[in-house]
Amino acid sequence: MCGIVGYSGPGNSVGPILEGLTRLEYRGYDSAGICLKLNGQLEIIKKEGKLDNLKSLISEKHPFSNIGIGHTRWATHGGVTTDNAHPHGNELFAVVHNGIIENASSLKKELISEGYVFKSQTDSEVFLVLLTKYFKQTGQTLQSISKAFNTISGNSAFVIMEKSTDKLYCLKRSAPLVVGENDETREAYVSSDPFALVGYAPKLYFPQDGVICESTVLATHVQVKFFELDLTPSNRYKTQGNVMTMDSTTKGPYEHFMLKEIHEQPGLIDKLSAFYLKGEGRSVLNGLSGFQSPMWHLTACGTAWHAGLMIRNYFEQINRQRASVEIASEFRYKQPILNKEEVGLFISQSGETADTLACQELCQEQKIKTFSIVNVEGSTLFRNADKNFLIHAGVEIGVASTKAFTLQVLTGYLMSQAMKGNLDDPKLFSEIQLLSHRIAEICAHSDGVLKEVAEKIYAQKGFIFTGRGKYFPIALEGALKLKEIAYVHAEGYAAGELKHGPIALIDENIVNIAIVGPELLEKTISNVEEVKARRGIIVMIGPKDLTEYEELADFYIGLNFEGLPNLSPLYVNVVLQFLAYHIAKLKGTDIDKPRNLAKSVTVE
Ligand code: F6R
Repeated sequence: MCGIVGYSGPGNSVGPILEGLTRLEYRGYDSAGICLKLNGQLEIIKKEGKLDNLKSLISEKHPFSNIGIGHTRWATHGGVTTDNAHPHGNELFAVVHNGIIENASSLKKELISEGYVFKSQTDSEVFLVLLTKYFKQTGQTLQSISKAFNTISGNSAFVIMEKSTDKLYCLKRSAPLVVGENDETREAYVSSDPFALVGYAPKLYFPQDGVICESTVLATHVQVKFFELDLTPSNRYKTQGNVMTMDSTTKGPYEHFMLKEIHEQPGLIDKLSAFYLKGEGRSVLNGLSGFQSPMWHLTACGTAWHAGLMIRNYFEQINRQRASVEIASEFRYKQPILNKEEVGLFISQSGETADTLACQELCQEQKIKTFSIVNVEGSTLFRNADKNFLIHAGVEIGVASTKAFTLQVLTGYLMSQAMKGNLDDPKLFSEIQLLSHRIAEICAHSDGVLKEVAEKIYAQKGFIFTGRGKYFPIALEGALKLKEIAYVHAEGYAAGELKHGPIALIDENIVNIAIVGPELLEKTISNVEEVKARRGIIVMIGPKDLTEYEELADFYIGLNFEGLPNLSPLYVNVVLQFLAYHIAKLKGTDIDKPRNLAKSVTVE
């Protein structure tokens, strides 16, 4: 979603801001802009559409500015237009904003009745106008920021620059924000994502909600100050080194980040198991030995929710512990029954998904423990959790999540084995090794049969993914992956559920991607027969050498399920990832940045 990058220092702000915004492009946006200080005036350059549009406008001017703020916008309030792009500014201030101001429309009405004029349809401009109004009353920037922030409701992050100084101000409520500092080069940064600051700011600060941060570049060093909203000094922030690396920013030999990330999975599985079974992560898992919760409340969104469905199965079947898994946007409003000793477990790649964070907050209010399975160390989810289980997937750039899903599930599986006290069981290690080996085999041959199948089916009208038991979440995940990157209608169903409605859709233009594991084989096969009888096109993913059933399928993808009693769904899922990828490629879609989607959904 929206991205923010700000800079103040002796150099030209344009370079780091555009580089930072480029790194955040993968998150999804529809317009971009920058505010620079040129000849002592705040000058805003912005343009709807891709960042390249903004870059060409800037390159015509060759500007040099010691301070600047940049933004990529993902429209919420107001259409995709240049006027609605950020920054929003006037003769005093320029502001960039991520999030939503919930009371914007009533505030706007009031401000208009007081004579203020708005140049855009955005909620963000309301903050600028409030800030300006209070500044005109007080002449104090910090006080005006605080007053404006106290007037608005909703979750937001703001970065502000002013005409009169080269200071960067920022603050937030339940939205990601990071302040960066490079004392050696005397440069101050701010961003909505530490990834934008890799290689620029070795030291990072994470202010908590309602803390104003003021960065000033002095002759000898960068001064970063924190204030509460009553303007007393604040210590409500965390400091850490920037641990991210730049490796993930290139595609290497791959055509798309998604393809690269699919191929990274075997190596990452090996690393994660080494980390948790034999390395530093072991002590984190040891802490779970014998752990019992009367109820696990798993919440997540999208692909991470599918990972939750898998993890619930492990907790229930391996640990015989009760677990519920809910879509975060539902859980947060359902007045969930939460009792002492229970645990909220939040699954998120970014650690910044607004609905998931709201569930975490809700559990904290009810004083139950909060655990996370998360990729981004230092994210809001990470910082606020009682215990974190990192998935160590590295930066995931493809908007469609692939490697993060695999590693979320694997982390949940290791947690389950840790509770059972099984971490030293050699069978556990060898099952994980086998998984990585089998996935590597699929990766090595993905340009063969999987591409051929994709070529045969990509133009069909619709796709129904089916699976039973542990393969049901994978059916949902396979369908989600296909719909998001290939823009075709795809649904996942429990195979036994087909005849209760969706079978009405089946005809010769509908493809059934049927996952047929060795478990409940005959029952799942009979569901395939039902589709066959209605002339559906069948792609069956099943045990190899199952000749008696191969004929049932139009296309049969045989896999070796042996030795993967708990992890075979992750193996099958990689086949689905490749199918989605090849189908999307044949359709010519924007695979890494599918339309309408954002990598990190920081609004409700
Ligand atoms: C789908 C996808 C999304 C995310 C969802 C949650 O490929 O990536 O469905 O899984 O938006 O995001 P995180 O995991 O960052 O909380």
